[in-house]
Amino acid sequence: MVISTGSKIVKTAVFISGTGSNLKSLIKFSKLKKSPISISLIISNNPKSKGLKYANIFNIKKKIFTLKKITDEKKILFELKKDKISLICLAGFMKILSKTFIKNFNGKILNIHPSLLPKFKGLNTHERAIKKKEKYSGCTVHYVSPKLDSGKIILQKKVKINKNDTSESLAKKILFQEHKLYPKAILKIFSL
Ligand code: GRF
Repeated sequence: MVISTGSKIVKTAVFISGTGSNLKSLIKFSKLKKSPISISLIISNNPKSKGLKYANIFNIKKKIFTLKKITDEKKILFELKKDKISLICLAGFMKILSKTFIKNFNGKILNIHPSLLPKFKGLNTHERAIKKKEKYSGCTVHYVSPKLDSGKIILQKKVKINKNDTSESLAKKILFQEHKLYPKAILKIFSL
């Protein structure tokens, strides 16, 4: 799956639920000359999401939809179409999008997951990797498909698990790599 854009800048929406450190790194990347994307919309399901502050700092439009009602997805789709968004980056977005929603943006939704997929899909990845005595964990950028954390992999980065690592220390090491991996994956899909 390759997204063909010609030489046009790809209007992108980032979906968040929490801290938004990946959002921040994507915004910084989007401002570089080499970036194929511009970020024009931030969507959060959580009004308390700390990452929403980046909308104010970087002057980007933000919208909050709790996704507690089925109609919320329709409202999001409306916003995306209105703003001519052609790429969605999920970045710590904790809601599962419906099949219908994903079909509407087929091949145009990316996600970053804090494990070496297909290992440790879902939540508590670091805790599970340590419990299983894995030597490595890491992060994955992948296309979003209707099956959770199972879409085609774009890029991965391995991170060594040390004997004294806790899920917190591992999360920190992996997050640091996530901030580099997401921009790299975007460059990869648009330069194919
Ligand atoms: C990241 O580890 C991401 O991989 C996971 O949730 C975390 C979000 O962190 N899905 P942040 O909100 O980008 O700081």
